[in-house]
Amino acid sequence: MPILKISSLFRASIILICYYIITFRLLEDLTLINRILSSQKIQTSYNDEKFLTYLPHSGFNNQLISLKNAIILSYVTNRTLIMPSVIIDKEITHSGFDKLYSKLERSIIMKKARLSSCSHRTNETTNIKDFCHKSNNHHEKFSMMYWDDLLDFTTLKKRIRIINRGHEFNHESLKKSFESIFYIKENSRYGYQYFDMDNMKRSLGRQYNKKFFISKFKSRPEKLIHFGSLHGSRRVNLDDKKNKEFLNEVKESLRFNHPELNLCIERIINELGGLKNYIGVHIRTGERKFGDEMFRIQANNTIKTILDQVNHYFLNERFNNTKCQHPIVFLATDAKNPKRTFRTFYSKFSPCIFSLTDFKHHLDIFNNIKTYDNYKLKKFFMPLVDLLVASSGGYFVGTDKSTFSKMAKEIHDFQIA
Ligand SMILES: *[C@@H]1O[C@H](CO)[C@@H](O)[C@H](O)[C@H]1NC(C)=O
Ligand SMILES: *[C@@H]1O[C@H](CO)[C@@H](O)[C@H](O)[C@H]1NC(C)=O
Ligand SMILES: *[C@@H]1O[C@H](CO)[C@@H](O)[C@H](O)[C@H]1NC(C)=O
Ligand SMILES: *[C@@H]1O[C@H](CO)[C@@H](O)[C@H](O)[C@H]1NC(C)=O
Repeated sequence: MPILKISSLFRASIILICYYIITFRLLEDLTLINRILSSQKIQTSYNDEKFLTYLPHSGFNNQLISLKNAIILSYVTNRTLIMPSVIIDKEITHSGFDKLYSKLERSIIMKKARLSSCSHRTNETTNIKDFCHKSNNHHEKFSMMYWDDLLDFTTLKKRIRIINRGHEFNHESLKKSFESIFYIKENSRYGYQYFDMDNMKRSLGRQYNKKFFISKFKSRPEKLIHFGSLHGSRRVNLDDKKNKEFLNEVKESLRFNHPELNLCIERIINELGGLKNYIGVHIRTGERKFGDEMFRIQANNTIKTILDQVNHYFLNERFNNTKCQHPIVFLATDAKNPKRTFRTFYSKFSPCIFSLTDFKHHLDIFNNIKTYDNYKLKKFFMPLVDLLVASSGGYFVGTDKSTFSKMAKEIHDFQIA
């Protein structure tokens, strides 16, 4: 027995050592590639060009909010935005700067290491401590995508300079590419709140720790300003008229332009009676996600409030539909079984109420859509379809405090209405 124990311990350590060698080599490769890429970027840019970048985290909606904040900061400071890719199907939770950086970097290294060294070993390994054991499969279940492959930046690129960071978060290689970096390292979830006018007597948002005047960035000599998290819809506050106009331009022009996504929502909208010819609704029940307690407790109230609002439009507004005598309702939701959860809705608006589950056949368009590393995107696109269809109605009614609802409302108000 003792011999067996020693030998399995020995095997485990050999595997661990191999794993570290592999990761280390990969890290080296990445560094080299990035150095080459980065040096090209810097050489082709103007000498006086300065840059800014940040670290993404959390789900898609939060990443999009961070991106918009970064775009605004890039405009106000006249710095080129080094845009990180979208992280798909993995919620890297918020942390302080250094910890968040290593979590991002590690996720990518783990995935690459498994893809490159485990494919031939997966049927063999029964040792649970082995990095290639199937219990470590989750390291592969995410991917990345350039924002440009999802959103249309043509208008914005006339106003600000943007380059893609690539599908990596290698801090060391970034340091090598920039002779000087100014870091904004926050350690709490909401650290600085940014303001574009120094003399405004705006009070600090409840969640934030400290005011930061953007004017301070303008004089920074460093080539790169490196933010950590930029999430939070009240993170950047604008009072200057020109900046506010730019913000509206961002909201209006940054549209989803993925070809299959657009085709899919167009087909569903047509079935619903056409753009603006239905009422878009979003109800977040919190039933699927751990940590969504706030929405779960409120769910029954939310449903009642929304029902009243929808009913108001239902009775008072005219829609150009031939299919139903009443306006059609499209209900976007996180509920698994909308017909059961929203019985009151269905009994009131049937047969003219629909949710994504009624349009499953249109989602087949995503069956073969994959990322650069062959990761399937169907699951990623589904909430986006829900979002875009819900926001394309004549009216939109959403859940209070839900990021999804805020985004849908913004799309509705700036791109549809
Ligand atoms: C903005 O930055 C560019 C260099 O990237 C520079 O050529 C230009 O003069 C700057 N504009 C202003 C208004 O400072
Ligand atoms: C592993 O399994 C796959 C199919 O399940 C098979 O094609 C492959 O040959 C196997 N590899 C080894 C090394 O046994
Ligand atoms: C919401 O209402 C349903 C039935 O109407 C009930 O079963 C459920 O417990 C309620 N949930 C909460 C959180 O009050
Ligand atoms: C109503 O829809 C029909 C076809 O769907 C269209 O021909 C007509 O112009 C629309 N009317 C209005 C007032 O939008």
